Amino acid sequence: MTKLLPKNFVLGGATAAYQAEGATKEDGKGKVAWDDFLEKQGRFKADPASDFYHRYPEDLELCEKFGVDGIRISIAWSRIFPNGNDQEPNPLGVKFYHDLFKECHKRQVEPYVTLHHFDTPDTLHKEGDFLNLDTVEAFARYADFCFKEYEGEVTKWFTFNEVWPVSSCQYLTGTFPPGIRFDYSKVVQSMHNIMLAHARALNLFKEKGYAGQCGIIHSLETKYPYNRDSIDDQRAAELADTLSNKFLLDATFLGEYQEATWNNIQEILRSNDAHIEVPYEDIVEMKQAASQLDYLGINQYQSSFFRSYKGDNDIHHNGTGEKGTSVFKLKGVGEAMFDMAIPRTDWDWLIYPKGLYDMIMRVKNDYRNYKEIFITENGMGYKDDFEDGVINDTPRIEYIKQHLEAVSDAIRDGANVNGYFLWSLMDVFSWSNGYNKRYGLFYVDFESQQRYPKQSAYWWKELHQTRELK
Ligand code: NOJ
Repeated sequence: MTKLLPKNFVLGGATAAYQAEGATKEDGKGKVAWDDFLEKQGRFKADPASDFYHRYPEDLELCEKFGVDGIRISIAWSRIFPNGNDQEPNPLGVKFYHDLFKECHKRQVEPYVTLHHFDTPDTLHKEGDFLNLDTVEAFARYADFCFKEYEGEVTKWFTFNEVWPVSSCQYLTGTFPPGIRFDYSKVVQSMHNIMLAHARALNLFKEKGYAGQCGIIHSLETKYPYNRDSIDDQRAAELADTLSNKFLLDATFLGEYQEATWNNIQEILRSNDAHIEVPYEDIVEMKQAASQLDYLGINQYQSSFFRSYKGDNDIHHNGTGEKGTSVFKLKGVGEAMFDMAIPRTDWDWLIYPKGLYDMIMRVKNDYRNYKEIFITENGMGYKDDFEDGVINDTPRIEYIKQHLEAVSDAIRDGANVNGYFLWSLMDVFSWSNGYNKRYGLFYVDFESQQRYPKQSAYWWKELHQTRELK
């Protein structure tokens, strides 16, 4: 039977400043750690990306034409405060986002704005990023500035995009700057401190009574035991879930860590000779924020299946699309399995839409004070074939359809989910894959910067009109 989406359900497209804008050195933009990190690797650059900095009117026109109701944009902190905490903001950076929001409204595309999408200004990053509490303070100041400056233009805010990936890619897999591996103290401390920064910004937003709503986005991959009947595999899945999901969900909705969460985290930290500090004042701030959160954004692309594992840490990140090369073994946690009877992308991401249904229902059932959920990212990385302007991305259409069906089921079962943002609106730069991993509804020829609607864009347009998942 054809499944349906509600009439007012937002069908949006997602982008991020560093992945879409390009212009990394223009109009007074400050450096971010990625600039040097990528240059050192020498594989690819974030310029020109999709040149959104200059071409956003074209992208917003496409949104209007193809039924994209909302756009996720992030503000590049270092366009506003080039060194993170400058006395005065950079007027050209501030103006760019005013112009961009104006164009969004002209095209009737609602902007959903994230304040931090992996791009802390370099000056603060060098001093320890969110491991340093000065960054927490600087973030709150930057957030407050944006809430005030763009009041009336933006009503939908998110503080952070994906806390676990920021912390784990920086300090566990080493795929994000500063490229540190297996430092569990830093991973977990960074997650906690980012949640504190989120809380501070959200509390300011509410205290000052800015118009609009504010939430946070987490990457929430559902963890299952590889062998459902094995107690050891169940435990591995539980520990993996605590580390990347439950720790953050507790912080978000409860403002504190439940006893079982804390015990699991301590067990993982002990196995890795690591420790963290959580002062009581942080909990006070986080609890206040938890009671004021407007919505949760869920990013989900894949689920994972964990097997019990007693060895050392061992990770190979598949950043090239060579299927079958991923390794993810965490000491004191478990091992993620990839070679399974479940379809997966060339980057070994297991396609499992039920994981999205299960995660939505888990939030609904375990955190009864949640108010609203948006699926803020979901989509399929694919090496699209471009044939004379035609891009036949049938696997992507299938992927989106299956995940929207899972969302539709969750809504039927009582979850308050009000929108879905496809990652990505157009093809953008990918942090660890550069330009060969495409996600967009619109194909970007990165040389000419011309945009071409893919088959999925035509499918989307029809979906937007009919709301039927065909
Ligand atoms: C999550 C991130 O928010 C985004 O920046 C990234 O490119 C996509 N996932 C795809 O990996």
